[in-house]
Amino acid sequence: MTQTLTIPRPDDWHLHLRDGAMLQAVLPETARHFGRAIIMPNLVPPVVTGALAAAYRERILAALPEGMAFEPLMTLYLTEDTDPADVAAAHASGLVKAVKLYPAGATTNSASGVTNFDNVRAVLEKMAEIGLPLCTHGEVTDHDIDIFDREAVFIDRVLDPIRQSTPGLRVVMEHITTKNAADYVASQEQDLGATITTHHLIINRNHILVGGIKPHYYCLPVAKREEHRLALRAAATSGDKRYFLGTDSAPHTDPNKESACGCAGCFTATNTMSLLAHVFEEEGALDKLAGFASENGPAFYGLPVSSETLTLTKQDAPVAFPEKIESGDGPVTVFDPGFPVFWNAGG
Ligand code: DOR
Ligand code: ZN
Repeated sequence: MTQTLTIPRPDDWHLHLRDGAMLQAVLPETARHFGRAIIMPNLVPPVVTGALAAAYRERILAALPEGMAFEPLMTLYLTEDTDPADVAAAHASGLVKAVKLYPAGATTNSASGVTNFDNVRAVLEKMAEIGLPLCTHGEVTDHDIDIFDREAVFIDRVLDPIRQSTPGLRVVMEHITTKNAADYVASQEQDLGATITTHHLIINRNHILVGGIKPHYYCLPVAKREEHRLALRAAATSGDKRYFLGTDSAPHTDPNKESACGCAGCFTATNTMSLLAHVFEEEGALDKLAGFASENGPAFYGLPVSSETLTLTKQDAPVAFPEKIESGDGPVTVFDPGFPVFWNAGG
């Protein structure tokens, strides 16, 4: 008997669409299955004002193929020069749904991020007042902190102090990769959510490094030990409303990944929903997929759950995903989970 699973049309609460030819190539991969996505602002130059966010939104909508429906939920890139009044106006107009914090130097195009958190106090206080969430790239950048410890240290040194000193600030811990982060989320009573990527539910650090270096599994925050992957699986499939899907699908061309200094990012837009069905079934939690991918995110952001649906069908033969998608900038390799996947998300 054919097994199917129908869920409300999912949303992606953390997505990189880029711009120009890359935007054109990757947008349909997301819009095929997802109704909305929180769009990351780390373009070159970054999306730092309401005016830039409005222009970027127009470029995204212009790149959407005929007949596809998709709503980009825009974000602003927080810098030490961000104007609280501009943030408030962009929120009041309905344009901007979150502000993104990149510690300076933490990841791709983060050079304009924050070094001195005292300089963004006024913005954070305004955000707490108006209920605009802060999305955090939760890694410290200190050279003496090991890359595998950077998320846990961020929670202690940056995130918790910010939350303590800014009551009412709503925070999304983006792409959590550690048990430490899941434990922190579970210990907090309000104003905190966390996104989890598809790839961090599938790979641990061995997948990147054992048997030869695999550049297409390198992303930031970097995948950690197996015990952390298992903690993320437990969190994602728990039914706890504080966790929701943010794929962090982050396209880079193959030459930029397969390089002596390869870029960070896994491109999962194409097969995310199939992979998630596989993971949730493995965990005996298919009934929790709708919460994780379609319901918990809108609840956090105060938006309605989609009235449309997505149906996943389990087929006998493995689904044949493209190995790469072509963009005007060059080929982009689709995330390979390393196992066959039988759930077809259609489209
Ligand atoms: O792996 C990543 N890629 N992590 C990030 O934080 C940024 C992203 C990108 O923009 O490529
Ligand atoms: Zn990201």
